Amino acid sequence: MFVLKLTLLSLLMAPGLLVYAENEITCYGSVQHLGCDTGVINVTSALYGRTDKSICSVGRPASETQNTACTLNIPIISARCNGFRQCEFKTDKLGSTDPCLGTFKYYNTTFTCMQGRVIVICEDGYSTLDCGNDVVDIINANYGRTDSTTCSTGLPSFILANTNCYASNTLSLVAAECNGKTSCTVHASYTIFNDPCIGISKYLTVSYRCLPVYTSVTCEGSNAALKCEAGVLDILSANFGRTDSTTCSAGRPRSQISNTKCYGNNTLAEVTNRCEGKSSCVVPATNSVFSDPCVGTYKYLSIRYSCRII
Ligand SMILES: *[C@@H]1O[C@H](CO)[C@@H](O)[C@H](O)[C@H]1NC(C)=O
Ligand SMILES: *[C@@H]1O[C@H](CO)[C@@H](O)[C@H](O)[C@H]1NC(C)=O
Ligand SMILES: *[C@@H]1O[C@H](CO)[C@@H](O)[C@H](O)[C@H]1NC(C)=O
Repeated sequence: MFVLKLTLLSLLMAPGLLVYAENEITCYGSVQHLGCDTGVINVTSALYGRTDKSICSVGRPASETQNTACTLNIPIISARCNGFRQCEFKTDKLGSTDPCLGTFKYYNTTFTCMQGRVIVICEDGYSTLDCGNDVVDIINANYGRTDSTTCSTGLPSFILANTNCYASNTLSLVAAECNGKTSCTVHASYTIFNDPCIGISKYLTVSYRCLPVYTSVTCEGSNAALKCEAGVLDILSANFGRTDSTTCSAGRPRSQISNTKCYGNNTLAEVTNRCEGKSSCVVPATNSVFSDPCVGTYKYLSIRYSCRII
C-alpha cells in the first residue's frame, strides 16, 4: 500500500507527465502575461472575441457584451510565446483583425508548460547549445527585445525603449543551424537576423530541447520499420552499404563482407523522402530501392533518426 502510494506520487511528479492547462483572459488593450514556473510555454488555444457575457464587461453598455458567439484564432500568440518561460505583450499591439465590430472583446489564451531549456544571448554574444549524445530541437527563437531589463546593464534607456521587437526570420535560421545536431553555436547579431528595430539594443532568446537519437540496422533483403511513439521522424543520417565486417555477417562468405568502405550516396535522400515527418515508415533494404553501391557485397541499411515533437 505504502509502496503503491510512493510510485503514484513519483509518476505524478515526473516532469513532462504533470500537465496543467492554464488560462489567461485579458480585456482588449490590457497587457497579457503568460508564464511557467517550470518548463516553457506551449499555447494550446489563443482566441480573440467574446464567448461569455460577464468577462470584461465592467462599465460596458449591454450592446457591447451581448454577442457571445465571436471568436477568432490568434496564431501570433503561440508564435511569440511558445518555448519561453515568460511572455508578455500589450494586446492592442497584436494587430488582430476585428471578428465582431461593436462588441468589446478579450484575449483568451490557454497553455501548458512543457520541458525545454532557454538561453539568452546579449547583442554580439555567442552561445553553444549542447545536447551531449542527443540532438538539438529548437522550439522557438527571437532576436529582438521584448522587455526593457534583459541585457540592459549599463545601457541608456533610449536604446531599450522598444519592447515589441521581433525578427521574423529568427526561428527558421536558428532551426536550420541547430536542429538534428548534437551541438551548435549561435551568434546574437544584426548581421545574421533581420534588424527589426534599428537603434535598439537587441538580444537573442533561444528555447530548445534535446531529443534522443535512435539507430536502426536492417540486413539486405529485409524491411526497416521506423516508428515514433510521440512526434514525427527526423532522419539524421542513413547508409545502405557496409562499414564494418561484423554487422549482418552471419553465414556470409568472407568475400561478401570484406568491403567495409561501401557507401550508398542516395540513401539519405531516399530514406528522407519515404520517412521524414511521418510517425512511421517502412523501407526495404534492397538494391531496387537504393542503387547498388558495391556489387557483390552483402549490405545493410543503417539509419540514425530522432522523433521531433510537433
Ligand atoms: C503542445 O500542446 C499540444 C496540444 O495539447 C500537444 O499536442 C503537443 O504535443 C504539445 N507539445 C509538446 C512539445 O509537448
Ligand atoms: C477560453 O477558451 C477555452 C478554450 O478554448 C474555453 O474552454 C473557455 O470557455 C474560454 N473562456 C472564456 C471566458 O471565453
Ligand atoms: C557516389 O558519389 C560519387 C562522388 O560523389 C560518385 O562518383 C558516384 O558515382 C556516386 N555513386 C552512386 C551510386 O551514386
